[in-house]
Order: sequence, then structure tokens, then C-alpha cells
Amino acid sequence: MERKTTQISQAEVERQLTLCDDICRVTGQWADKPLALVDTYGCQQNEADSERIRGYLERMGFGFTDDPEQARIIVINTCAIREHAEQRVLGNVGALVHTKRRHPEQLICLCGCMVQEKHVAEKIRQSYRHVDLVFGPHALWKFPEMVHTLLTQRGRIFSVADEAGSIAEGIPTVRQDGIKAWVSIMYGCNNFCTYCIVPYVRGRERSRTIADIAAEAENMAASGTKEIMLLGQNVNSFGLGSENGETFPQLLHALDGVVPRIRFMTSHPKDLSDALIEEMAHSKSVCPQFHLPVQSGSDRILQEMNRHYTREHYLERVRALRSAIPNVGLTTDIIAGFPGETDAEFEDTLSLVEQVRYDSAYTFIYSPRQGTRAAAMENQVDEAIKHERLSRLIALQEGITKEQLTGCIGRTEDVLVEGASRRQAGFVSGRTGRGMMVNFEGNEEWIGQIVPVQITGSGTNTLRGIRK
Ligand code: 5AD
Ligand code: SF4
Repeated sequence: MERKTTQISQAEVERQLTLCDDICRVTGQWADKPLALVDTYGCQQNEADSERIRGYLERMGFGFTDDPEQARIIVINTCAIREHAEQRVLGNVGALVHTKRRHPEQLICLCGCMVQEKHVAEKIRQSYRHVDLVFGPHALWKFPEMVHTLLTQRGRIFSVADEAGSIAEGIPTVRQDGIKAWVSIMYGCNNFCTYCIVPYVRGRERSRTIADIAAEAENMAASGTKEIMLLGQNVNSFGLGSENGETFPQLLHALDGVVPRIRFMTSHPKDLSDALIEEMAHSKSVCPQFHLPVQSGSDRILQEMNRHYTREHYLERVRALRSAIPNVGLTTDIIAGFPGETDAEFEDTLSLVEQVRYDSAYTFIYSPRQGTRAAAMENQVDEAIKHERLSRLIALQEGITKEQLTGCIGRTEDVLVEGASRRQAGFVSGRTGRGMMVNFEGNEEWIGQIVPVQITGSGTNTLRGIRK
């Protein structure tokens, strides 16, 4: 597989935009404005990719719908991280065969991590013949070209080759939310954790430049964005391997003050540097929230996972974060039932969770992914045991989350108001810097503002308060 990163030239991106305009001239002559449905599975990186797909579609003259019957084009952006996600996608794609029978002109497109897996692409080719276009993350930048070909020639297109990882600047976006935005700062991953499919489907790590990211952030700030989430599989290694020697703390420094709030994910404990902690502690915009996936509390399992840190190293990083950034909220990812995990090793995970006291945790049952090292391990854990471990983990974390929320009562927090409360008329909701959701009485004019709120109560996952 080719490993070199290529920057897609500005001329190439311009050519894609010109193709969008050509398509727009065609769609403009159709009797009704054509609609597109974009359905996204998986992580924020996928959400960010879907915003670019929508950006292209808008430029082609499409409006948007959630109804497959109304859609002239359907794009399903898939996730490969666990088998469950793949089954859901296949079920939904299978059902579209009936929709397409009623609307034969409909274009059905599948993209994202799952179709970059060879065996999945092959299955779609053979058994899901109503799917017209299949393209992996590497090919997203040339989506207009592929749609253009489909509209002019019909036939099916598969663009899932293992190309060199690329970066394309200047693709338009349609953002779902005016207040908060996702910004991808890097793509791919070099870590090869033994359970994980990501390095195989998203290719090697490559970073955008600080100048390009800052320009995007400034544009967003000018159009009213208040909070930016910087995205990458391992943001701590941002810039490593690129010629300009840029680093993640430098990026945070450059973005400080551009928008009121900055968050980022995901961090790898092995690469979490003192320089980053220092930068966070002094930054005005970076929120006191840290997502630091631990995956397991057992040194032996961490080693089997190829994580390159020990439990003690992890705990030391947590202490360093907490001493530099008081009130920092920690969140994590944990896998239960990795191959060979014994009861005692799982107990180590529980004891770590008790020790760290996370605000919340994303907990997963280990799911074998074809082609990864862990999937080939012979000592797979029994399904029933995996489920039982997950339940214990969730129960433990739920109790800790509740206590962390209760611990905020009495404090006054700055809350970015995100919208009207879904549960109660006359209430609004938003997040504290630490990332906790607060509901309080208020009016919708406050949406987009950061307001001081006294925390007065807590529920299972959210806080209640009163505007000061
Ligand atoms: N099985 C279960 N969980 C997984 N994750 C990644 N791969 C797998 C897998 N094969 C989890 C990890 C990662 C998060 C995004 O998904 O915890 O941090
Ligand atoms: Fe997967 Fe590990 Fe890379 Fe995260 S750091 S994307 S878990 S290989």
C-alpha cells in the first residue's frame, strides 16, 4: 500500500466544484428541486465528512430531506468500528431495494470506513446490486466527479482502492449547527491498536497546516460559530511527520481567542505531553474537558492492545492534568472482553474507573474486526461474559457520573446556550466548559450566548440551574 500523503491540489478541488456547477445546471432544469438524504453512522469524524458531502450536494443544487421516498440521491456514510454498526447499515441498505424499485432513478451511495474494507465492498458488489456508488474515505474529495459520471453514464462505480492518504482543502460544507462546529485537523491513524480497524480504512496519519485550520476557524467565527471541536484519531500527534514541524499545542495557541470555546478529541495517553497540559492551562478558549481513552486498566491487556502505556503512566497523566487544570472533566473509552481478558484483569479496569472518577465513559463490548490482530487471537471471550462485564462497568460508571454531577451543585458555571430544552417549554439547555449539560429557565434569545448559571440540582446525566 502506498504510504505517502498527497495534498489534493487547489486546481483539482476547483475542478470538482466546476463539476458541481455543471450538475447544478442539469438539476436546475428538473421539474422539482431535487432532494438528498445523507445518513451518518459512527464518530464525529464521519459527521464532519458528511458536512462536506452535504456541502458538495448543495452546490449541485440539492435540498435535503429525511425521507427516502423523496430523495433523488441517498448517501449513507458508514462506520466499521464494531460489527453491530455494520449490521445496522446493511439492514438499512437492504431495505432501500424497495424504495429504489418505486423510484428507479434514485441514486444510492455508500461511503465511509465500512466500504473501505475489502470483504464489505465485495459483498455490496455481489449482493446489494441496487447500490450505485461505493467510495471510501480516501475518495470523498472527488464525490462530484463520481455523481457526474453516474448522472451522465449510469452503471455502478466502486472507488475503494487503498490510495495514499490525502488532504483536500476548500471543500464546501453544510453545517448542521450554527453554534458548534467540527473541524478535522488530521486524518488517519498510525497506532495499530490490535482491536482497531481505523488504520486500515482511514490510512496513515496526516495533518492539515495550522494556517489552513486557523483560516477555517476565523471564517466560522465570523459567521457566528461559538464552539469548535477539533477532530483527529490522535490529536496529540498532530503535525508529527509533516515537514513544517508544527505541533498540537502550537495549534491550540494559534486558535486561542478565535472562538470562545475550543474542545478536541481524541487524545492518546502515550502522547499526552506536558506542553499540551501547559497550553490548556493557560488558554482562554480551550475548555477544561479531556477525553482520554484508557481502554483497559490491566497492564497485560494494554500491552496486548498495543497501547504503549501502563496503568501507572495513565494515572500519572491524569494527576498532571488535574493539578494543572483544576475542575477538569475527564471522559474515556473502555473495551470490555478483549481476547484473553480474565476476571481479575477486568477487575483492574473497574478499579481504575473508581480511581479516576470520570465524568462519563463510552463503554464497548469487544467486537472482532476482520484483518486486525486481535480478531485472530484464539482466546476470544465468551459473549455472555462480555455482556456481563459491560453491564457491571456501566453500572459503576453511572453511579460515578451521578456523583460528579451532584458535586457541581452550588457552583456557578459559564454555560453556552445551545437551544431550547427538548423536555420543558420555557427552558433552554447548554453545556458547561467541562462539558456537562445544564437545563434552566430561559428564552431562546440566549441561544449562542455564554451565560452564568448557578447549578441547583442534578439528574442521571444532566444538571439543573438558574441564570444568575
Ligand atoms: N471493539 C470494541 N470497541 C472498539 N473500539 C475500537 N475498536 C473496537 C472494537 N473492535 C472503541 C475504542 C475506541 C472507540 C472509538 O471505539 O474504545 O476508543
Ligand atoms: Fe484505533 Fe488506536 Fe488509532 Fe484510536 S489510536 S483510531 S483506537 S488504532
